[in-house]
Amino acid sequence: MRFSRIGEKYTSKSGILALMDDLGAALQGTDKVYMLGGGNPAHIPQVNEIWRRRMEEILAAGDEFERMLANYDGPQGNKAFLEALAGMLSERYGWAVGPENIAVTNGSQSAFYYLFTLFAGQDSAGKLRKVLFPLTPEYVGYADQPSEAGFFVSRRSVIDEFEEHRFKYRVDLDNLEIGDDIAALCVSRPTNPTGNVLTDSEISALSSVAADRELPLFIDNAYGVPFPGIIFEEVKPVWDRHIILGMSLSKLGLPASRTGIIVADVPVIDALSSLNAVMSLATGSVGQVITTPLLKNGEILRISKDIIRPYYKQKANKALSWIDEFFEGRVDYSVHKSEGAIFLWIWFKNLRVPVSELYERLKKRGVIVVPGQFFFYGLEEEWEHRNQCIRINYGQAEEDVRRGIEIIAEEAQKLHG
Ligand SMILES: Cc1ncc(COP(=O)(O)O)c(C=O)c1O
Repeated sequence: MRFSRIGEKYTSKSGILALMDDLGAALQGTDKVYMLGGGNPAHIPQVNEIWRRRMEEILAAGDEFERMLANYDGPQGNKAFLEALAGMLSERYGWAVGPENIAVTNGSQSAFYYLFTLFAGQDSAGKLRKVLFPLTPEYVGYADQPSEAGFFVSRRSVIDEFEEHRFKYRVDLDNLEIGDDIAALCVSRPTNPTGNVLTDSEISALSSVAADRELPLFIDNAYGVPFPGIIFEEVKPVWDRHIILGMSLSKLGLPASRTGIIVADVPVIDALSSLNAVMSLATGSVGQVITTPLLKNGEILRISKDIIRPYYKQKANKALSWIDEFFEGRVDYSVHKSEGAIFLWIWFKNLRVPVSELYERLKKRGVIVVPGQFFFYGLEEEWEHRNQCIRINYGQAEEDVRRGIEIIAEEAQKLHG
């Protein structure tokens, strides 16, 4: 049996895929595991109650349950869902969007695969066009999506250290050259892995650069507003005809419903609908049916603002205080300002080895983190910072996060000096 070149590309066990395999093997036989590595959202009891209530309502509402499971929706999405979401976005933010500006995909992960495929790669004249990530580190889930190497370029960010043990990445706008080979710009906001939220002025600068060049700006809003609202800064949500905004029901608490959302200009939505039709025929209906009434009556905003956001905010604060408690005086560290998303990004400034070694030691002690080097794809130059950071998911059980952080401090201390 032989795979094609593209088949080989998608199955080659490089980078993060190798890490996943390695983890599975390593965990066999480990007694207690502190899972600070994955991207699963927390199970929030009040939110789970709402999903249960919605399922009961669906079961009680005539043949709604059968229609949800036994009919294909269209390749653009469920009509009622598209209308309800367009209504909310236009009323709440004044954006000129109608249902024709929204497409649903099976998770926003596949939405970004579609977008990269639509815009990057060889154009009809045979020229290779690339996606530019103006700020790196960036979401590792994009890294292996293109069918060929070399589709992505990224820029080093500027590091602003603003108080003891805290820093924030900034887009180096002065050095943001955009060559003729760039097809699109892409950022996640809030950013996975760092918890960074690009400021309004950074977004406005990127948006005007993109508009001037007639390029799309992809903004991955999987953690942002209006839902799930895991964003701790007051920033302005933006959309424009050249902005392609990604959203998701996953971090709202419905990752298994695989519902991704793209808000974009009509030609992009038509293209995504075609891709959906070709690749998966129709969109998954369950997440859309569960949330449509919550979009209509605004409950989704209340859940995001009053339950989800405070839940993660207090968890982030606690994890930060444990990092300071256990690291102070033992480890030379700084943590990225926690502005959103479900991760903390820790920078070890003076380890005598790369963080991959720290990762190996932690794994032996049952603590799973994600070593940072995988989030620096697309960089043309070397940057030692790429081997100095790890990502932890702070959303898991408190005692595990606390103990996991304590073990990280113990192991990192051994690698100092
Ligand atoms: C920044 C970002 N974008 C997209 C995704 C994909 O999410 P989903 O496919 O579940 O919508 C994730 C998942 O963790 C993410 O962190």
